Formats: sequence, structure tokens, C-alpha cells
Amino acid sequence: MKQFTANELRKAWKQFYIDRGHVDCGAVSLVSDGSTGVMFNVAGMQPLMPYLLGKKHPMGTRLCNVQGCVRTNDIDSVGDKSHGTFFEMMGSWSLGDYFKKERCQWSFELLTQLFGFDADHLAATVFAGDENAPRDEEGAKYRIESGFKPENIFYLPAEDNWWGLEYGPCGPDSEMFYVKDIPDCGPDCGPGCHCGKYTEIGNDVFMQYEKHHDGHLTPLSQKNVDTGWGLERILAFLNGVDDVYKIDLHAPVIAYIEKESGIKYEADEKTTRSMRILADHTRTSVMLIGDEAKLLPSNTGAGYILRRLIRRAVRHARTLGLNKDQILGVAKIYIDEYAESYEHLDKNRKFVLTELEREITRFESTLENGMKEFKKILDKTGAEGKKEIEGKDAFFLYDTFGFPVELTVELAGEEGFTVDEKGFADSMEEQKQKARDNQNFSANLSTGAGVFDGLDESVQVQFLGYDALDCDGSIVAMASGDALTDELKEGEQGSIITSKTTFYGTMGGQVGDTGVILGKDGSKFEVTETVHVAGGRTAHVGTVVSGSFKNSDEVSLKVDAQERAKTCRNHSATHLLQKALQEVLGDHVEQAGSYQDTDKTRFDFSHHQAMTPDEIQKVEDLVNKKIAEALPVVTEEMTMKEAKKTGAMALFGEKYGDRVRVVKMGDFSIELCGGTHVSNTSHVGMFKIVSESGVAAGVRRIEALTGDNARNYYKNVEATLNDAAKLLKANTSDVLTQIKKLQEELKALKSENESLKSKEAQAALGDVMDSVKDIKGVKLIAQSVKGVDMNGLRDLGDQLKGKLGEGVVVLVSELDGKVNLMAMATEEAISKGAHAGNLVKAIAGKVGGGGGGRPNMAQAGGKNPAGIPDAIAETEKALELQIK
Ligand code: ALA
Repeated sequence: MKQFTANELRKAWKQFYIDRGHVDCGAVSLVSDGSTGVMFNVAGMQPLMPYLLGKKHPMGTRLCNVQGCVRTNDIDSVGDKSHGTFFEMMGSWSLGDYFKKERCQWSFELLTQLFGFDADHLAATVFAGDENAPRDEEGAKYRIESGFKPENIFYLPAEDNWWGLEYGPCGPDSEMFYVKDIPDCGPDCGPGCHCGKYTEIGNDVFMQYEKHHDGHLTPLSQKNVDTGWGLERILAFLNGVDDVYKIDLHAPVIAYIEKESGIKYEADEKTTRSMRILADHTRTSVMLIGDEAKLLPSNTGAGYILRRLIRRAVRHARTLGLNKDQILGVAKIYIDEYAESYEHLDKNRKFVLTELEREITRFESTLENGMKEFKKILDKTGAEGKKEIEGKDAFFLYDTFGFPVELTVELAGEEGFTVDEKGFADSMEEQKQKARDNQNFSANLSTGAGVFDGLDESVQVQFLGYDALDCDGSIVAMASGDALTDELKEGEQGSIITSKTTFYGTMGGQVGDTGVILGKDGSKFEVTETVHVAGGRTAHVGTVVSGSFKNSDEVSLKVDAQERAKTCRNHSATHLLQKALQEVLGDHVEQAGSYQDTDKTRFDFSHHQAMTPDEIQKVEDLVNKKIAEALPVVTEEMTMKEAKKTGAMALFGEKYGDRVRVVKMGDFSIELCGGTHVSNTSHVGMFKIVSESGVAAGVRRIEALTGDNARNYYKNVEATLNDAAKLLKANTSDVLTQIKKLQEELKALKSENESLKSKEAQAALGDVMDSVKDIKGVKLIAQSVKGVDMNGLRDLGDQLKGKLGEGVVVLVSELDGKVNLMAMATEEAISKGAHAGNLVKAIAGKVGGGGGGRPNMAQAGGKNPAGIPDAIAETEKALELQIK
């Protein structure tokens, strides 16, 4: 058999199929876009599903690639010789092009010519047939025609030989095996048996059916072939090792772990398992964070799986006596191993290590205490004679120490205990409900919070505001200040509860409505705020501007339609924004908070770095695109279970009862939401992001405008531009050129000014050479000049020094009420004892300053220009003292 490195194998696979008319279609993100009902990409065919179902692929009908996949359903098997949560699938496809004949022929050529297997040791399975599809005689025929021995073809049922995901394209498959020269282990020995005689090498799926969501099958209009080979397993096999952790992709990591832990691989079962888990989970984490989706650990969805992987890796590292640095050491080796094949990983190297370190640190700091608590819980459970850890205890470990429940289950399992996982889920739900209750009742009534707490349960409010803005109702309760009241008089502030209302109360980030409540007699209550109070009721807060209101009065409620419309625009835009952020930045984006009022929308979300201008632009463009597409906004009530099926994004902290509201904007965004929305995305008008900033570790904030607010923003920008143009006496289109011109002019003027100044300074010096003094054989020029800065003084000093040949130059200048002072001494003067630094030090006091410097050059500043003549006079004395 031929030997390969991972890189060689990837290339050889693709070349083999390229030589047979296939196009390398490249790999996609490991994180699924959610359209196929799974969180990760689990097979090479997954991104190709639409094309297998009949859509035209832009690259043609024959494709191949090597695609990273993440499968975590058999995470518990990781630790043995072959399982991993990340693997690479070498794939090849016919999208309605060739079918079984060619594929069987090529698979055989690949096995024998490229990899060097001999036909005697090859076996294949084919589908035995059932009510869905016939026995695959054709598959068997082509396998045999290609070179397989007839006695090595096995017919197996759907359980073994039917392939497809939950739904979508599927069909009978035919797997290929290597047959070892050992006797059958028994009468049923054959492919699929675990005795070691048969090793699976690859799989050809003949996809000719579509499985629908309800489970029924229909034939596809085109016949496809979907081929997938696991890179690592085949690599291990070709290289004669029976353990994927011994192939070149893992070997350096295992060696590193051995070195750092001082434990030999395969020395014992438990530590070997830990080594493999540490390796596998670290690698998958590295690949997910370094993926184009930049997945980050979180408490939901794919992010939670990542968090579990990292935390499990940390725990197994600790079993081996390894710490954070060593886990990062493992991560670095994997990044190096995979950088060539995964460009994003290479690019995101720093990001991966930073985020990984962050999550490890987060977990490590609580792990130790958590383990102590876990032991206590274990002891307590044991002492009570029980073998099952209570759900609330598992929840305590989760809530306080971040122990994923699977970790508790695993730890418990090691001690022969189980965990009440249902009880855990109940405790989790209970806590979420509490959080929701708190949120909904925390809205403070601006007048007299809690005043309505004691109302009878029969006092209820019917909310009609999703469908209408005006309605009639009767007053069921009123409050003024801290007390309930029967009457609110003109000029009085207070709050009114009515039997029916169209006013939306502040909730879920959306501020409540404003408007008026009108009495039958013409009295008017101006609603400035609408809030939720005890018992799920809505209270209208405001002032009686005319007349008075009594309990039981029949009233008309009118929401301010314009204000409501503004809020709706901002809220609907927020849904588009969230989805756009996920598309542009990745699935790790989750809502961390949001706020919409009539002016703007503010959206906080999880993301660990500032967005680039390009990303911000992309998000803004995408939201505007969806506005322009005029997507219908449809709201539907359904059960939570039904809602989950639609894949709706649930926002933590929103009120979700048994029945939830699902807000759908075309096929783009689906969210659970109780807020009010525009009926079509086009009504949002336009969307403009005005700021992006950080609010907490890992949380970014976007503020954005919609509709008229966005238009006004642009108007202001335009007005500023017009003003600028006016000042420049130019057209707006020429503003930039004009500014550039001005800048250049300014630059030219500055340099002209500099040279003028220095000329002026020279002139100011007059015939300075006349004033040269001789101090004990050292020539000295000590002069004051006007309005020269330090640079100018130095230039001047250099010139004078040149003229002087040898000696000392001291220049003092007044500039803007301050003094600049500079001294220079030539080599010869220094050899005679002159020291510019000491000279400056000696005279700076006269001008109210201080300073010093080297023997050849020194400068100082001062605050007292009046002292300049003294300083000049002092120079002579000071120099005289210096000269030997
Ligand atoms: N999609 C097929 C598999 O995963 C090739 O086995």
C-alpha cells in the first residue's frame, strides 16, 4: 500500500477526480447556516443539498473537495482509537451526471491504482432492498465488473446501507471494506462486524430519493452519486497504524502531551483516553473558533457545544497534570498542522489563541471550587443511600461553576453515579422564568411603583394594540402618587388602567406608547409613558390636561400613531440587524440586550472585537437590501414547540408563555418577539448605523437610525457639507479637492514661513561676528534674538558655529511670552573645559527656567523673558569659570 501524509492525501484525492472531469468546489464553514436543521457541517454533501435536489451548481455536475466536518453525537466514543469530533471528509459527486457504473469503476481504480490495495482483499456491501427501494443488483453488478470478487459482495438492509440526513437527498449506499487475512469470527462475520477482519474505507451513496420532513420519500428528478471517505481513517490504514492519533496530523500533539505530562501514550487506558480527548477536543475548538464563522463559546446552540468541548479538554488536561499553557501549546501545534489547508485558521491564529485562553481561564478559575462542591454533593448523595445526583444540585454546579450538565454526568459516571437530567432541565426553566418575571415587573411606574399590587385578580386588561391603535374601554383603576384614587383632576399626574388598551407597555427592549385617553365629556389625559404593572396589567402614566377622570368612566384610547410607527420601524430594523450581524460576523452573535424608542435602535450583542468599517458597511447594506426587498412581516402565535421547529431565534429575557409570538420577515429573519412591528420591511424606509462600540467584555453595541430619523441624519450631514462648501467657496463636489488644495497651500506657507523666520533671525543677529568675545582663549557668541523657536535656534546655532570655527554659541529667544535657550560647544572648546549643558544650567535660572544637556549641545525653556539680558551677561561669567 502507498504511504501518504495528510497533505499528500488531500491533494491526491482531488487530483484523481480532477483528472476525471471533476472541479474542486472548495470547503465551506464548519458551522452550519441552520438551513439543514443541524448546527455543524456533518458531511461533505451537506452544503450541496440544494444541488443534489436539482438546483444547478455554478461549478458544474462533477465536483470534489475535502471538507472539514464536526460530529458531536458520538462524543462519548471519543477517547478510543478512531473517533473524533472533527474529521475531514474527502468527497466526490455526480450531480445528475454519471451514475453507478462510472463511480464503481473509479472507486476501484482509486483503491487499487492510487492506494495500492489488491482486489483479493476488497469487499463491498450493497443495499438488500425494502419497501422503499429495490435490491441494488445494479450496484453489485458494477462492483463486480470493476474488479471486486463476487463472493466479496454482501447485501445488507437499510440500517447499514441507506444514507441520508434527517431529511433531504438520500438513497442506497455501497460501502467498501478492506478484508484482513484472518478467519471469520463466526457464522455472521462480515462487513460491519467489529472483530477486526473488515475495515470500512469509503462510501458511495446513490442518491436518487428525497426524504421529506414527515418521513415520506419521493424519487428525485436526477440521479446523483455522493462519495465520502474519512481522511484520517484511510490515512491511518494506508500508513499501517490502527489508531488515528498516530497519523501525522496528531502525532506531534501526542508527542508534546507525552513530553509535558511525562506520561507515555498507551501506558494505561485512562490516561491514553484523556490524551485523545484533550487532543481531539482542542483541535475541534481550534477549528471552530478559527473557522470563517469565528464561533465563540456561549450558553446556547453551537457556542455551547464549543464551550463543552473546551471545558472537557481542560478537565482531561488536568487529569494529565497539564495546565492552560500546555493546552494552548496543543492548540498551536494544530494550528500549524492545519494552517496550509485552512486559510481562515491561519489568518485567525491570534484570535483563536486569545479566545481559547479566555475560555480556559474562565473555566479554570471556578473548576477547582466546583470540583470541591461536586465532591460534597457526591458525598451527600452517597450518604443518603442514593446513586442519582439531584437535578437541582447539577443545576447549582452549572449556575455557579459553569459545569455543563454533561460534565457532571461524566464525573458522576466515573464514580458510579447518575444525574437526574430532567430535574436539571426543570431547575434551569424555573430560573429562566424567574428572570422573566423580574424583567416584566421591574418597570417602574413613574408615579407610585407597586401601587397596583393589591388589585383584585378580576381586574384585567385586554391588549388590542397589535391590530389597532384606537379603542374604547372603561377605567378600572387609577393612582395618584403612591395611592389608588377614584378621581384624577385637571393638572394632576397619575396613572390609569383601562379594561382594554391599544397602548404597548414598555417590554422586551421596546419603549411603551404615548398618546391620549379621552373622556366622553371632552376631558383629556396625556399618556407620556405606558408600563407593565403587577398582574400583567398595563398602566398609562401621564397628566390630566383638561377635565377630570373617574373610576368606571368610559374612555377612548388613542395611541400616537406617528410615534408608534417610529418605534415599530426601529424594532423591525433590529430583527433585520441581528440576522445581518449573524450573516456577516458569524453564528456566535447573540442578543445581549436591546432598546428601541422613537429615535433609534440600540442593539447589544456578543462579539469579541470591534467591527471593522467594512463589516459595519456590510451589515448596513444587508439590512437595507432586506428593506428594499419589501419582505412581508408576518406574526403568528404558536406553541413554543412549534416555534422551535421554525428555527426562530429566541431572545433571553423576553416573556415567553406557553404560546409565543413568532415574527417572520420573509425567509430572512424569524424571532420570538412580543413587540410591535411594521407590516412590511419596506416601511422601515432606510437604515443607518451611527455607532459601534464596546460596552462590556465580549459585548458590542450598535446604534442605528431608521426612516425619517435616518433621513434627518443624512440631511444634517448634507447641511454640514453645504456649509463647508460655502466656507470654501466651492461646489460640494469639489470640497475634497479644495481641502487638499488648502492643505497643500498651508504646507507651502508653513515652510516659507520657517525659512523667512530663520532669515529674520539671522538678520536680527545683525553682524553677530562683531560681538565675538574671547573668554580665556575660547571664542563665545552669546546673543538674544526675537521670535525664534527651538528648531530655529538650533539651525542658527549650527550656522554660527560654522562661522566661528571653534568656540561656544549661546542663543536666547523670546517666543509668545516664553523663553527658548540653547547652547553649543565645539570639540576644541570642550577640550578646554566648556560644557554646553552646565552653561545652560548656570544661566537658565535668570529666565525663570531650568534645563541642561550634553557637553556639545543643550537647551532649556524659561518663563521670564525680562531676564534675557541677565542671562546673556551671566554666560560670560559661567564660561570663564568652566575654562581651565
Ligand atoms: N455522505 C456520505 C457519508 O457521510 C458519503 O458517509
